[in-house]
Amino acid sequence: MNWSEEWNSSIKESSYLKILNEKGISNNDFWKNLDYYDELMKYSGYPGKILDRISTFIFPEDILLDIGSGAGAFALPLSKISNKLIALDPSPYQLSILKSKAEADKCDNILYIEKEWKNVSKYEIGHVDYSLAAYSFFEDDIYSFLEKLIYVATKGIFLVFRAGRGDPLREYVYNNKNSVDFLHLYNILSEMGYIFNVEIFTSDYKLPLPFVYRSYPYSIKTEDEIFNYLNENNRLIKKQNFYEVLCQRKDALLYLIK
Ligand SMILES: C[S@@+](CC[C@H](N)C(=O)[O-])C[C@H]1O[C@@H](n2cnc3c(N)ncnc32)[C@H](O)[C@@H]1O
Repeated sequence: MNWSEEWNSSIKESSYLKILNEKGISNNDFWKNLDYYDELMKYSGYPGKILDRISTFIFPEDILLDIGSGAGAFALPLSKISNKLIALDPSPYQLSILKSKAEADKCDNILYIEKEWKNVSKYEIGHVDYSLAAYSFFEDDIYSFLEKLIYVATKGIFLVFRAGRGDPLREYVYNNKNSVDFLHLYNILSEMGYIFNVEIFTSDYKLPLPFVYRSYPYSIKTEDEIFNYLNENNRLIKKQNFYEVLCQRKDALLYLIK
């Protein structure tokens, strides 16, 4: 099995890159449309214990790089326990959310870089103590993506990606299969000569039904079809005047301390 090739072709087919491609939407517009992403993550307890685990490695003098920081699920809390944090993301919208949260929390040690990782040279960033990428492996060449983030980090690397298929509802509403998970990353890294540690984090949570509908703005299924699917899979809990949906997420933290 060629893990890199498999990853490169699958990620285009199974991630939001497929939506960008099919609908002709820019990365920035996609995230603007998903402006409730933070709220959704909070329901699921993300980054929760993964963040706690990463935090155990960080010292106050450390410089961190968060590749694909988004609205700062990791970047904002990690900036509070480190010397400096570089938040890199190509989406000005995502970075603007992070900036306003950082301002509100009086975090002035974040450096913002509005770029794709592939457009940053190894030497532009210089060396950092730790590099991190969480659910941001959206480039054509995973090998170069990983190689560069390993190169720039002197103390260690943290990677976060799903363990398993993810929510089967996602496959249903978009009619595609999540064929890659953290094991692909693990195998690519070991072919590169790096054996990462792996820890799995599972979170069971409930989402209000309207929120589930909103979570899939580009769904090819109607709300009725989604309701029936959830019902048939015993995932609906009837409350007095609304429904909750049973959900689970499984994340893998891959880390290497140099
Ligand atoms: C699913 S969000 C994850 C955000 C955050 N890391 C987290 O775990 O919540 C993915 C982020 O990756 C960013 N992204 C997409 N392509 C990227 C690239 N080529 N380089 C760096 N970041 C990228 C997106 O703009 C988005 O903010």
